[in-house]
Amino acid sequence: MRIRELTLRPFRNFTAIHLGFAADHVLIFGPNGRGKSNILEAISYLSIGKSVRGAKDQQVVPHGEDFFDIRAFCSDGRRDQQVRVFYSKKEGKKAFVDATPLPRVSELLGTFRTVHFSPEDVSLVLRFPAQRRRLLDILIAQSSAAYLRYMQRYYRVLAQRNHLLRTAKKSRHGLVDGQIQAMEPWDAQLVDLGAQLRLCRLEALNRLRAPFLRYYGRFALAGEEATIVYQGAKGQDLEALRAELREALGRRREQEIKMGFTLCGPHRDDLKFTLNEEPAEVYASEGQLRTVLISWKLAEARYMEEQTSRQPVLLLDDAFSELDSGRIGELLDILGEFEQVVATTPQEPNTRQEACFESIDLQK
Ligand SMILES: Nc1ncnc2c1ncn2[C@@H]1O[C@H](COP(=O)(O)OP(=O)(O)O)[C@@H](O)[C@H]1O
Ligand SMILES: [Mg+2]
Repeated sequence: MRIRELTLRPFRNFTAIHLGFAADHVLIFGPNGRGKSNILEAISYLSIGKSVRGAKDQQVVPHGEDFFDIRAFCSDGRRDQQVRVFYSKKEGKKAFVDATPLPRVSELLGTFRTVHFSPEDVSLVLRFPAQRRRLLDILIAQSSAAYLRYMQRYYRVLAQRNHLLRTAKKSRHGLVDGQIQAMEPWDAQLVDLGAQLRLCRLEALNRLRAPFLRYYGRFALAGEEATIVYQGAKGQDLEALRAELREALGRRREQEIKMGFTLCGPHRDDLKFTLNEEPAEVYASEGQLRTVLISWKLAEARYMEEQTSRQPVLLLDDAFSELDSGRIGELLDILGEFEQVVATTPQEPNTRQEACFESIDLQK
């Protein structure tokens, strides 16, 4: 699905704006604060049903307004679709496809797929484990409805289990017999769902690794080697992953009671990026870190394409800054290999960019 038209009425700093994306490669430019990032955020709202920047729905309602409304017209050449996300404090959030309201906003996932890069993510994602997990979760959820269901159920079970652990922590006797029994069904479900989630993540990562290395290799100097490692689980199949999590829970039970929450499971796992075998976030330069994340995003797009037989739209917010001219040239070449790209830049497009993109001047 490619996006052909976008209407924000209103959203963030836009009271009303209508943009047409006739070309497949579009570069939006305009000065800082004009709303470029907001436009990409709005587009990705239509694919994941929430802010890709992690903002609350209320925060993207324009100041002084009480709702936001994002509409797009998408097409895959054969079929046209209208996708819409509306939110107001009073009515809550609603998603529509072709004017039909979806029973739940999360059912929007998979209708129109995007991959979003933003420079803020570079430090966030590469420095904080929770953000790295989110990276994987958003990716897999867009190509697997089952994953989203596992996640929702896992977090429900986790909340229940944490509740019991907190209660045990408060009581002076730790877990008494009845509580240990009460814990068992939660343990069993946590093990089951946790193993499912980990298997999905490991499989996704295994598929993502090859394109990631390929793209990073195209940007990097010879001898620069990047890797991605999943930390937290080693098992290769469901049975092994279940056994591993069951064993870990048993081993850390005492400690969990002392702390009052669940210490192992996919919610604590991590994704490590390394450059020449050093942790990327410690060792790499700003430009290298940016290249790591861009390569990951490009690989994400290839992964989604493989999973769904459709290419997602690449949304690249200010991806060109901080990169040297060699890397910018390579990025432009690579983007030419993708079906649709919506990128932003605070500078006037240069001749090379003008050759690759149709520009949209936000000042007009
Ligand atoms: N909820 C909101 N209501 C009104 N304006 C907002 C809201 N959220 C952000 N803005 C404004 O949007 C502008 C930033 O837009 P942004 O897309 O980040 O700009 P840039 O073109 O630099 O990427 C800021 O001026 C900010 O005040
Ligand atoms: Mg911006």
